[in-house]
Order: sequence, then C-alpha cells, then structure tokens
Amino acid sequence: MKKVYIETYGCQMNFADSEIVASLLKKEGYDVTTEIGEADYVLINTCAIRDNAEQRIRKRLRELRALQQRNTGLRIGILGCMAERLQSQLMVEEENVSFVVGPDAYRQLPSILARVREQGVKAAETELSTTETYADIEPVRLGSNGISAYISIMRGCQNYCAYCVVPYTRGRERSRDPETIVAEARDLYAHGYKEVTLLGQNVNSYRWRTDDGEVGFAELMARVAEISPRLRVRFATSHPKDLSDGLLEVMAKYDNICKCIHLPVQSGSDRILKLMNRHYDSAWYLDRIAAIRRYMPDCSITTDVIAGFCTETEEEHQMTLDMFRKVRYDYAYMFKFSMRPNTYAEKHLQDDVPEAEKTRRLEEIIALQGQIALENNRKEIGRVYEVLVEGESHRSKERLFGRNSQNKVIVFDRHEVQPGQYVKVKVVDCTAATLLGELCAQ
Ligand code: 5AD
Ligand code: SF4
Repeated sequence: MKKVYIETYGCQMNFADSEIVASLLKKEGYDVTTEIGEADYVLINTCAIRDNAEQRIRKRLRELRALQQRNTGLRIGILGCMAERLQSQLMVEEENVSFVVGPDAYRQLPSILARVREQGVKAAETELSTTETYADIEPVRLGSNGISAYISIMRGCQNYCAYCVVPYTRGRERSRDPETIVAEARDLYAHGYKEVTLLGQNVNSYRWRTDDGEVGFAELMARVAEISPRLRVRFATSHPKDLSDGLLEVMAKYDNICKCIHLPVQSGSDRILKLMNRHYDSAWYLDRIAAIRRYMPDCSITTDVIAGFCTETEEEHQMTLDMFRKVRYDYAYMFKFSMRPNTYAEKHLQDDVPEAEKTRRLEEIIALQGQIALENNRKEIGRVYEVLVEGESHRSKERLFGRNSQNKVIVFDRHEVQPGQYVKVKVVDCTAATLLGELCAQ
C-alpha cells in the first residue's frame, strides 16, 4: 500500500479540502500517514492569498529536498490555490515537484499519483469547474479532535475584490446539495461530534435551486441546527454586502447556532472600499453591525482588515482605526496589502504605500485591536458561559480549554470533566486572547 502524507496551509476551506483528498485516495487503496518519513507521496495543499503564503511553501519545498535525497522514490505534489495560480510553471520553478493539481481536479489524484510513479512523468491538472462540489465524498477527518468538524457547503467566489486572487484560484461560485450537507452533519453528530462549521468563501450567497423553490443559507442553517440542540453550528465567511436580517433572525432563534459573526471590513474608508470593489460603504457596514447587535446583543464580531491598500492615505488609514473603535471587534485578522498577479489591483492600481508605512499602519491597527480585545474580555469577568470542552490546555495537563458560543477560548481547572462535554464556566480573569474560568456546579 502506497503511503500519502498531506500537509495543509491557508484557510479552513483548504483544511476541509485536504479531508476530501484523503477520502478520495483512501478509496483507491492509498494509506494516509501522519509520518512524513514513511511517505511515498507528500501532498502540500497550498495558499496563494498573499505573497508570504507562497514564499512559505517555497521554503518548505527546499526543506523537503533533504528528505528526497534519503528517499529517492518520494514524489511531491502541490495542491490548492498556488497550484491553480501557477499551474505547470510551478514544476519548472520547483524541480522537486512532480505534479500540481488544482482545487477542482482532486478526483483525478489517484490516477495522477499512479501515472507519476509508473511512467515517471510529471503531471498538471488545473481545470476549474462550474459544478464540482465533492458532494458525494465523505471526508476523512484529519487531525480531528472528534468534537468539531468542517463541512464545505459551497465553493468558489465571484465577488472580484480588487486585491484578491481567490476568484482566479477557486473559480465560479457553486453551492452543494443541502440534503448531502444535512446528511453529513447528522452523521457527524451520530459519531459523537458536537460542533460543525459550515464553510464557504461567501456563505451568504449559498443558494440551491429545487423544483419547488430554493434553499438559501438561512434555511440551510436552520435545517442543520434542527438536527439536535446539542450540536453547535458555526459558519464562515460572510460578506457584509449580503448579510441579511433573515439570517440574523435564524441565528437568534436557535440557541445552538453560535453567536459569532466574522464580517471582514477590509477598510474604514469609503473611497478605499469602492476601489476594493467591496459593494458597501462604511455606513452600510455599521448598519449591519447595528442589526447584529439588535438581534443578538451577546454576539461576538470578528473581522479581516488590510493595511496599506493601493493609494491609501494616512487619513484613510485613520478611518480604519475609527471603524475599529466604533465596532470594537472581539478578534481581527490583520494584514498588510500584498499585490497579487492578475487581480484588478495589479492591472489598474499602484502599490504605492511604502513597505515601512504599511508596516507602521498595520502595527497601529494591531495595537488598537489588542487594547479593544482586552477591554472586551474584561467585561466578561463574572459572566457564566456554556463551554464545549475541546481538550487539554497547551500549558498544563491539569487544565482544559473550550469555547463559548461567542468562540472565545476559556481555560479552567479540569476536575472530572472530559473533552466533548458541555460545562458551565464562570469567567474570573482574562488576557487579550483568552478567558480564564472556574467550573460552576453543573
Ligand atoms: N493582500 C493582503 N490581504 C489580503 N486578503 C486577501 N487578499 C489580500 C491581499 N492581496 C485578506 C483579506 C481577506 C483575507 C482572507 O485575506 O482581508 O478577507
Ligand atoms: Fe488561501 Fe484563499 Fe486559497 Fe483559502 S481560498 S487557501 S485563503 S488563497
């Protein structure tokens, strides 16, 4: 039996895809190993979102040369977004890569692996699809804690934000049959899982047409939430332009739909938002934040932001800081703008904010967000939350960690509690990143 080792970089979608890849290969008689030293194939599922994500993969490929010298039969393949972006050119630039396979071509992996080995050839399959959702594939849960799992509900993106490579690496938007999604969630619950995260590049665009109407994202969420009140439902990522009141209503209605919304803002300046092709302005965004708070006063809100986008002025950067002060995010993923080949920005805009200035602006956002997160967490002290326990704290075996509905990590003394249990925990202290709690009498 040939052994395959899979290494994953990038977003949650990529981790979900690796589980589909593992399933497709297992079905064809490959063994998925967690020991890279015994692998016949190393598959690297890659990200292309920023230049540094790609540089990291290239560095990893250089490291793997030593392993290939020891094991001359080892074949390395690149999957995912970098494979799609660079296609066969990647095998010219990186000599130790034998095959590249894009996100919609994973069904061909078994035959590619065989061809590469038996015929000693190199192979590239990077055709994008308008229909592939891998709906019939039952993912093999890799590195799972047996408690929470990802379910991919749609693929692709066609929003064409000016900075973003995703529409080019993942193709057109397409939704997956809701029956298969609900069946997958039900099966996970039957196997002891307590939490599912519904994944898509833009989940609010989820839409499945049937003979007698259509299923939208809000209805899909409701159907998954109905499986059991003991199954938590999360989702990522939403686009502010289509965050509807209908979705917020469904979220508010079900206790087991987690009260946490990731709503990437990207910038606080209307001119920059327009230039980014985001289809909303700061007033619209703040209206959506107000709507979230109206429906769910206890909902946490997180975001993505880009510092130093093309032509961004100091004043416009200040508007982003103002947006952070107004919304008071619980968490933010904060990035420096990175110009990506073939995007609208690369074709039509100037990457004219100097690197040092981008760094300074980013650091300013990070410092502000750190302060806000700490202040938000301090307000949690004294509150009691239901926590789904995930495992041992990294620092001590005597302590466990889990998350509340708001997705905040809470650490507490373990007592007799086991991972996978729901417990009530009272918050007694915090840092900017973590809440510290005490187990309540259950
Ligand atoms: N440069 C910097 N950040 C980017 N993102 C997407 N493209 C770029 C880019 N070219 C960020 C956005 C997005 C997140 C996934 O990555 O904030 O929401
Ligand atoms: Fe990276 Fe975007 Fe691809 Fe996810 S979809 S791996 S974030 S480029």
